Amino acid sequence: MKILAIETSCDETSAAIVENGVTVLSHELASSAKSHIKTGGIVPEVGARQQIISIMPTIQAVMDGYSPDQIDALAVTVGPGLIGSLLVGVETAKTLAWAWEKPLIPVDHVVAHLYSAWLSDPTPELPALGLTISGGHTEFLLIKDHGDIQFLGSTRDDAAGEAFDKIARLLKRPYPGGPQIEQMAKEGNPNAVPLPRPMINEDSLEMSFSGLKTAVRNARESGEYQDFDIAASFQQAVVDVLVAKTARAIQEYQPKSLIIAGGVAANTAIRETLTKEFSHSAAVHVSQMSLAVDNAAIIGSYAYFNNHPQPITEIDADPLYHARLIGTSRSKKL
Ligand code: KG4
Ligand code: ZN
Repeated sequence: MKILAIETSCDETSAAIVENGVTVLSHELASSAKSHIKTGGIVPEVGARQQIISIMPTIQAVMDGYSPDQIDALAVTVGPGLIGSLLVGVETAKTLAWAWEKPLIPVDHVVAHLYSAWLSDPTPELPALGLTISGGHTEFLLIKDHGDIQFLGSTRDDAAGEAFDKIARLLKRPYPGGPQIEQMAKEGNPNAVPLPRPMINEDSLEMSFSGLKTAVRNARESGEYQDFDIAASFQQAVVDVLVAKTARAIQEYQPKSLIIAGGVAANTAIRETLTKEFSHSAAVHVSQMSLAVDNAAIIGSYAYFNNHPQPITEIDADPLYHARLIGTSRSKKL
């Protein structure tokens, strides 16, 4: 089964053809991240306009060599994300599904990040504990089976990636901040600045990164520390929190696999520490760098394994899609 998948939730415009959820036949990704450098972050209106410019060339490029007859279904990210950006992908997918008379599968982007693990060999054994660490989300999910996914806990405020971006801004580094902080951290001392590890001892899988950001701001304003040391100490605090929470989740749910996905999984300190800490208790699957960021291949894989097409008249872009699925329950089945 070949799925044409489309992802436009934030500043990446991506399309892919994925076969049987595991083989990427073609994949294109255009990013407008560079146009947000001057503003220190994405301006939603600018991101959405860029999506409009990029969407058709991106789809045309992945369809090169394929005809619509070879496509069995379409899939598209309906949320979460920026409404203007999401609308571009969703309306394009609806139009193509209607014109080509194909089913359309709406996809939750946060859960889809975990399916990067099905795009590399070996694929994870279930049940799998998933940790999505991105610019918008920092969240634990349990994939008991495809179609049987449980929400376990998430950040109460800023996502880890958002904290990286805000601290980069504080240190006068360009957007996106994650790679900048990682680079600076290599030259700094991770123990130089005393920083809190918020909620690390709390008996839950909830996290918080907003207080850490404030502590970093105070440390910088004190003038006592070098920027490299601030970057290294901040990164270490994030690593420590993620390690402690992952340990708690593994102990409680005893998964066969641990999947680490999302843009922040591109961070070498984070991927290496988590792999080293947990490879004795579960098979650790970290997203390949190219599939860690927002991309359509993960959307196509998720759509194959959790195949629920809906009538196009019922599919809409919905920034709160993921929040609505989770509801208020701390451990809800999705
Ligand atoms: O998953 P993603 O591409 O988009 C969202 O869905 O949010 O993640 C983007 C986030 C940004 O906050 C970016 O700063 C962060 O991932 N990121 C990193 C690194 N590369 C990207 N954070 C830490 N270290 C990195 N090397
Ligand atoms: Zn993402």
